[in-house]
Amino acid sequence: MAPIDPHSFTDSTHPLATHISLSLFFDFSSSTIHASALLTLPAPHSGPISLDARGLTVHSVLDPQSSAPLPFSLSSPDPIKGCHLTVTLANHSSVLVLYTTAPNSSALQWLSPPQTFNKTLPFVYTQCQAIHARSVFPCQDTPAARVCYSARLNVPRQLSAVMSARHVDRRDPIAGEGSALACGDGAWCAEGRTVEEFVMEQPIPPYLFAFAVGELGFREVGPRTRVYSEAVPAVLELAAKEFASAEDMIRQGEALFGPYEWERFDLLVLPPSFPYGGMENPRMTFLTPTVLKGDSSGAQVVAHELAHSWTGNLITNKTNEHFWLNEGFTTYAERRIVEAVQGEDRAALNIGIGWRGLNKEMERFKDNMEFTKLKTNQEGVDPDDVYSEVPYEKGFQFLWRIERQVGRPAFDEFTKKYIATFKFKSIDTETFLEFLKANLLGIEKEIDLILWTEGTGIPPDAYEPVSSIYTKIILMANEFKLGRMPREDEVADWGGMEWELYLENLPKSIEASQILDLNARYSLSESKDYEVKVAFLLLAIGSKCKDHYAEVEKTLKAVGRKKYLVPLYTALVEGTGKEEEKILAKRVFAEARETYHPIAQGVVETILSKHI
Ligand code: BES
Ligand code: ZN
Repeated sequence: MAPIDPHSFTDSTHPLATHISLSLFFDFSSSTIHASALLTLPAPHSGPISLDARGLTVHSVLDPQSSAPLPFSLSSPDPIKGCHLTVTLANHSSVLVLYTTAPNSSALQWLSPPQTFNKTLPFVYTQCQAIHARSVFPCQDTPAARVCYSARLNVPRQLSAVMSARHVDRRDPIAGEGSALACGDGAWCAEGRTVEEFVMEQPIPPYLFAFAVGELGFREVGPRTRVYSEAVPAVLELAAKEFASAEDMIRQGEALFGPYEWERFDLLVLPPSFPYGGMENPRMTFLTPTVLKGDSSGAQVVAHELAHSWTGNLITNKTNEHFWLNEGFTTYAERRIVEAVQGEDRAALNIGIGWRGLNKEMERFKDNMEFTKLKTNQEGVDPDDVYSEVPYEKGFQFLWRIERQVGRPAFDEFTKKYIATFKFKSIDTETFLEFLKANLLGIEKEIDLILWTEGTGIPPDAYEPVSSIYTKIILMANEFKLGRMPREDEVADWGGMEWELYLENLPKSIEASQILDLNARYSLSESKDYEVKVAFLLLAIGSKCKDHYAEVEKTLKAVGRKKYLVPLYTALVEGTGKEEEKILAKRVFAEARETYHPIAQGVVETILSKHI
């Protein structure tokens, strides 16, 4: 056994599958998928092959040519990696696995009709990053592996499907297609069912596999962009407006990083329980509805997910230990796109908010400094539990440091060459550093590359941004300590980002009365911008301003984005003398749990179990 990734059973001595063909029958009544997965290897193989599986009931494993059963075993689950599925091959170059997913499959959120906007039809969607693809189909679930795929989704006819792939057909089921599946051909071909077909011809790491099935509608927003969401005209209109700059951003991305290789850049706005701000599924970025603020600030999240089209989806981290290569590079690329489309001030505010976030993470990880490094050791660690801003913001700072050293033109040339050299490959930190040294000669004498990638904390040559608006806001936040409330004329043109930066820079220990004063003036607890609202509510919890606890509860029940759940629940339960807050957290979680995606459920559970 020679593992290549601490989060996968994939064995380096086994061939990596190059194609997966899926048949998926969606059974909304049991929240399960009856499925088959046909894995193709690059050459015939004899002996065992290791696959990842989580919560899958494997009915049989067959030689697809002869339909003869192949010997297999499924280990008991490891708490992080899930089950090790071993199939023994005898000169086979493909394997067919027949299986059913678990109702609590960690990638899937099944929404019953009352949980949707229109309340009449169900909805289901995936979130496979970091290591959840294995809960939808058996695979070598490591970003070191890349596969093309095709998929056939059998769904109720009132619903439609989207995927991180090209849509090729919507058609009637064909007799025989479902006969090997656990649902049987009768259910596959039943009245009222339809089949949606997709292909992904470019090799992708399994974490980029994605689908959503529901009552979907769409609007055109650009020559290669549509925005999809549940078919609610108001949501679609708002989304189409918010993302009107998509084509502009793609062009900026192409100018900076080379051709856009994925043909389409469609967007899907998910229900409020979507656990992330955005997810860069190729051809179809998934987005939280909390980015629809009506002021184009959601464009920043779109810029980020778009930037992954180059950094992350073309060049992928080999394992999660090198996650900074995905997110740090993407944060840098996102800010370059924002700067080009929205101007330098916006980009500087963004960097300032990031800088503040990075410093906060140093506090969070002060007893676990490993996770303040760029390259981390994740043996025995669940990537969902150590998800933080460090790979984003320290990674950004590292690349920004290199840009300052060599100048923008040289760094831009380097970045383009880096992408062209490693596209459709998965690489590690060492490969990046070798390429850096070979292409920016002498860089290692100017910047301590080892300190940056392997050291803990924030290196001394990191940089707080300077811009007049950024500096002014920090100054005003410092003055609040002395009792100075911002004047209306000073904040008249503030948007969400300005408020967010201001609130996040206020001291933690302000009096409850000051919190009430601030809110009486600026109604921050009712802000439609969740970044502002949550930043304010965190201050309220910090100073035990109980008047706002009802709003905290409402927020925790309205959205399932981890970025809000994690700090809010943590603020409620961390520290001493918090009995009332702990009771509140426990009760709210018990009541809201079912509305969260399984990944968010898991993370909140970890927080509560640590402190209660
Ligand atoms: N790929 C990430 C989301 C992710 C990371 C999901 C790790 C699962 C595991 C995505 O690109 C991302 O970074 N989203 C951010 C957006 C923000 C930085 C603009 C988010 O969700 O907050
Ligand atoms: Zn990202």
